[in-house]
This record gives sequence, structure tokens and C-alpha cells, in this order.
Amino acid sequence: METEKIRENGTGFASKLGFVLATAGSAVGLGNLWRFPYLAAKYGGGVFLLIYLILAVTFGFAMMITEASIGRRTGKSVIGAYQVVNESFGGMGTFAALIPVFIMPYYCVIGGWVLKYMCVFATGHGLDAAVDDYKGGAPLFSHFIGQAKEPAIFFVIFVLVNLVVILFGVQKGIENVSKIMMPLLVVLILGIGIYTMTLKGAGAGFKYYILPDFTGVTVSKLLKTIAAAAGQLFYSLSLAMGIMITYGSYMRKEDSMESCVRQIEVFDTAIAFLAGMIIVPAVFIFSNGDAAAMNAGPGLMFLTLPKVFATIPGGQILGTVFFVLVALAAMTSSMSLMETVVAVVMEKFKINRIKAALYVFIFTVVVGLLSVFGYSIWAEFTLFGMQILDFFDFTTNNIMMPILSVLTCILIGYVAKTAYVEEEVERNGEDFKARGMYRVMIKYICPVVMIIILITPFVTKL
Ligand code: TRP
Repeated sequence: METEKIRENGTGFASKLGFVLATAGSAVGLGNLWRFPYLAAKYGGGVFLLIYLILAVTFGFAMMITEASIGRRTGKSVIGAYQVVNESFGGMGTFAALIPVFIMPYYCVIGGWVLKYMCVFATGHGLDAAVDDYKGGAPLFSHFIGQAKEPAIFFVIFVLVNLVVILFGVQKGIENVSKIMMPLLVVLILGIGIYTMTLKGAGAGFKYYILPDFTGVTVSKLLKTIAAAAGQLFYSLSLAMGIMITYGSYMRKEDSMESCVRQIEVFDTAIAFLAGMIIVPAVFIFSNGDAAAMNAGPGLMFLTLPKVFATIPGGQILGTVFFVLVALAAMTSSMSLMETVVAVVMEKFKINRIKAALYVFIFTVVVGLLSVFGYSIWAEFTLFGMQILDFFDFTTNNIMMPILSVLTCILIGYVAKTAYVEEEVERNGEDFKARGMYRVMIKYICPVVMIIILITPFVTKL
């Protein structure tokens, strides 16, 4: 891994901008474009958005600055870092490293869905995806995921591309392409968002997305929304899985930790917000706010966006470009995920890169296929009332990551003490401006929020 070499040479990222861009590149992916909008639609639009934003500037900020500081101070990747902070917390490293292992397979399943939609639009069948009764009955999306073979093929193709990229070490090339393409994605999303605003019924849709409406929000609903928003924050910012520790270890000592973390957060949140802006009001417009449509879950993006494209002149081409860009964003994130997992396997089992990559490939395919078949041949089979894909998603985001976060808060708040992070933040001679908030967050508020998230599924019966 190139960055590994850089770290060993002790130079790390060449610039502050380099660090921010690389981290943002790994952070911005399906989490922002696919996951955020469907959660926002499901959990009350404005209410979800407000809770997400509050959590991002408080809890997300505290967690990210903690992880990046641990990384830069210890100079280690996730497996070794916690051990350096405190001997008895060493086990956290392995636990953290396990999280991307379980995210990777289902991430690639969604990546496969994106590839499929890219092909649907590129071959001029975008309109088929827009109708509610493709071949009589259900939308194209339901037909697609309801069969075993096709989603499996697209999924395997997506994983294979990742494997090839990792084996040939051409990530840099793809990352550079994606750096040029990402601004285009932002422009496209902005354009589609402005266009959606001109559609009939857009007012109500935007109101739903932007303005929090607490009428009818019960305590149980509020708890679930907080849990979903916090889980999304972990996922989107790649927190609570050691990724930021690894990135932090590459960071230059003289750069301002506080401003880097702020920039990454603002960037990631802005993209998620914009993605929500093209999807949430649109589902509202095309369904008149029908509750079942808002609750569509993981399929939302694939059900709603084709309808928007169907109303745009040249929507077929625009749709193709859009899904190509989403595929690219998904690819840069999944590469970084796979790279992380491969690095962990190499380090843990002391095997070479090729072997590690092949093991990870096989594992990803086997576990990912469970998620694929969970929508077709094993659709009857649910785990605690969830489809298999949702189960992996839920277990990682709402159980494993909060557990890791609580432990991190205990480690930094009470064992190593917050000075461990504060000193690192101030290493470049700057004052830690948010110090007061940081201490309160890590010692009191974060652990409480995490415990709420952990018990929510039990008190609200999922
Ligand atoms: N944050 C990424 C996204 O929003 C997903 C992700 C989670 C990720 N964990 C990661 C990406 C680890 C790279 C590495 O899509």
C-alpha cells in the first residue's frame, strides 16, 4: 500500500488539502448518495435532518477528532493504535477492524445495483425503470432484486473490479479520475435538485425534507430517529471502525487537526444533504407523500430517481451520466474499504497481499451473496424481522459501532484522559477552540447517546 510506505518514511500526506481530499474521497460514497436519502425519507424528513446536523457538529466532530488524534499520536493503524494508548484496550483494535469486514460485502451488493442502473440507462431503458408496473405489477427495481441471478452477477462484477484494482495497485489512477469527476457529480445533483423544485407539488416535498415537523413524533419514534441518524453519521464519516485512525496516522504534524476535521465534515454533510434534496422531495412529489413510498428503504434511490429522469428532456443521457458518477463514487469508497480489509488480513495473518486479497474476495462474495439472495430465493427468511442486507447494515451501524464508540469514550474520557487528544490537537501550536465542548461530549454526552442507541431496538422492538 503506497500510503503505508509513506507512513513508514514518516512523511505522510504532502499537504493539508491532500489529507482532507483523500479522507473526503473515502468518506463520500454510497453512504451519502444512497443511504442518507432513504433514511431521511423514512424518519420524517426535516426531523431526521435536524437531528443529523446536531449530531454531526457535536458528536461526529468529537469522535472524528478523537480518532484522527489517536492515529496521529500513535502513528499506528487501527490494530495497533488502541494498544499504544492503553494496554488493556488493545482488543478494541481487532473489534474495530472487523467492522469494515462486515460492511464490505453488502456495500458491494448496492454497488452492483448501481452498475445495473447504469446499464439500464446506458442501453436506453431508463423509462422502464420509471414505471410502477413494469411487465405488469411491480417496478423494474423489484423485478431486478427479486431474482437470484442478475443481482448476483452485477454484485460479483463490482467486487471483481475492486479486486483487480487492488491487486494491480491502480487505485491512484481511479482516485484521480474520481477527483475530477466528483465536482461534476455535485453540479449534476445541484442541477437536478433545482429542476425538481420546478415540478408540481415540489413545495410540499421540500417542506418535508427541510422543515422539522414534530407533530405525531412519539418518544419511541424519536429514539429510533436518533439511533438511525447516529448510525448514519458513523457510516457516512467512516467513524467507529478505525478508518480515521489509519488516516490520522498519515497526517502531517503541523496541520490543524480542528480545521481538517471541520472541512471533512462539512464536505461530507453537504453531499449527503444535496443527495437528499434530489431524492426526498421527488418521492414526495411522485407518491403524494404516501407513507409506503417514503418507507421504501434501501431501494428508494432506484425507485424514485428514474421517475425524475423520465420527466427531464434528455433524461436518458442525464440518468446514464448520473449513475456512472454514483458508480465511481461507490468504487472509490469500496476500494478504500477493501484495501482496509486486505491490510488488516495481511497484518493479522501475516500473509502476502495477493493471498489476502483473494481471501477477502472469496469472503466478500460468499457473505454478499447472502444479502443478494435475501431479496429473492431467501426472501421469506428474516433475521429479527430484517432482510439479510438490512441485518448486516443494522448490526454494524447500530450495534458494533456504538459499542466501539462507548469504549473509545471510556478510554479517552476516563482512562487516558482527554488531554491525550487535546495535546495532539494543539501540537501545531494552535488552541483547541472547541475544547470545552469536546470534553463534555466525550465524557458525558457521547456515552449516553451511544447507550440510548444500543437499547433503542429493545425498547421499541425494532
Ligand atoms: N463512508 C463511506 C460512504 O459514505 C462508506 C464507508 C464506511 C467506508 N466505512 C468505510 C468507505 C471505510 C471507506 C472505508 O459511503
